[in-house]
Amino acid sequence: MKVLVAGGAGYIGSHTVVELVKAGHEPVIVDNFSNSKETVIDRLEEITGTHLTWYRADLADQSLTRAIFEKETPDAVIHFAGYKAVGESVEQPLDYYENNLNTTFSIARAMIASGCDTIVFSSSATVYGDAELPLTESEPHLDSLSPYGYTKVAGERILTDIAQAHDLKLGLLRYFNPVGADASGRIGENPLGRPNNLMPAVAKVAAGRQDKLLIFGDDYPTRDGSAIRDYLHVTDLAKAHVVALEKLGGFDSSVKIWNLGTGKGTSVFELVAAFEQACGFELAKEVAPRRAGDRAEIYATPTLALEELGWQTELTIEDMCTDTWRWQSNNPDGYPDGEAQSTPSSVNAS
Ligand code: UFG
Repeated sequence: MKVLVAGGAGYIGSHTVVELVKAGHEPVIVDNFSNSKETVIDRLEEITGTHLTWYRADLADQSLTRAIFEKETPDAVIHFAGYKAVGESVEQPLDYYENNLNTTFSIARAMIASGCDTIVFSSSATVYGDAELPLTESEPHLDSLSPYGYTKVAGERILTDIAQAHDLKLGLLRYFNPVGADASGRIGENPLGRPNNLMPAVAKVAAGRQDKLLIFGDDYPTRDGSAIRDYLHVTDLAKAHVVALEKLGGFDSSVKIWNLGTGKGTSVFELVAAFEQACGFELAKEVAPRRAGDRAEIYATPTLALEELGWQTELTIEDMCTDTWRWQSNNPDGYPDGEAQSTPSSVNAS
């Protein structure tokens, strides 16, 4: 399949590009590089051993998006393009709603115009809001605690309505906590500025780029007082996108939803201890007050993905830490600045 990867230069997008090529598909990367660096393209070409087609383009621009779809005629889309920082979304809600929804509208219009009928959407466990565990895909009440989260709730709903009306195949993938990096150590998570999420913060402290790790809360009603999440390796997650794309056409329903996680919870203290094992030294850390809006415990019920896609995670917390550390220690400041060696494709938008 030729697969247009919207936001393909980002963290999960770039790992998915690798797995698409490994599975014999042809990715076309489209990214505006608002939160990524062009040099990731060079790394992806190095890992995959292929020349990749890529565009520097803003998918919120409808005519540009349409021109790319007309030129490339992809068989399917994986839609990762969007802003994703929970805290920032509270301060800049308009930017989040505008960007995340406009990219979705624009992609949907271009798909319908060009006859592309399959899309996988990057959603999040955030759509469960405060719902009681176990979190299953049939949960009727979706909600969220941030504007970022609402863009995922809205994105799911908008795409569902469009898929049903236009006979598209839609996969909504609800990620729990993706971490880790490709085993090559050449690509990984590269947050610009101070990281918001736990694993990048741990990695920055280990690399000496952040003085200490703040542990937000040790008084939760959990086994060690710190919050529990379901961390999954980004390579396992990337493979789930490939399988979802390959199998979407085989279901009667036009819309399918899958939770993607391990089904097991790991506490903040446990994750930090596993990382210290992986890097071989202790990290500077300090307990701080709880972070607003955090839940005590979230983990996936991932059985539907196993039953319907035959997908389950294979990599462990140790793999997640070892691979993150390999990436971070080889690239303490992330990707180099500058242009990609490889030339981007271009289109003339009317
Ligand atoms: N944490 C720390 N110190 C840090 C960063 C995080 O102790 O420096 C703690 C948090 O308080 C939380 C846990 O580590 O208890 C995990 O935090 P993350 O920010 O890594 O992950 P979240 O579960 O809060 O967020 C994730 C995704 C969001 C999504 C959200 C809800 O990153 O995109 O799940 O599903 F919205």
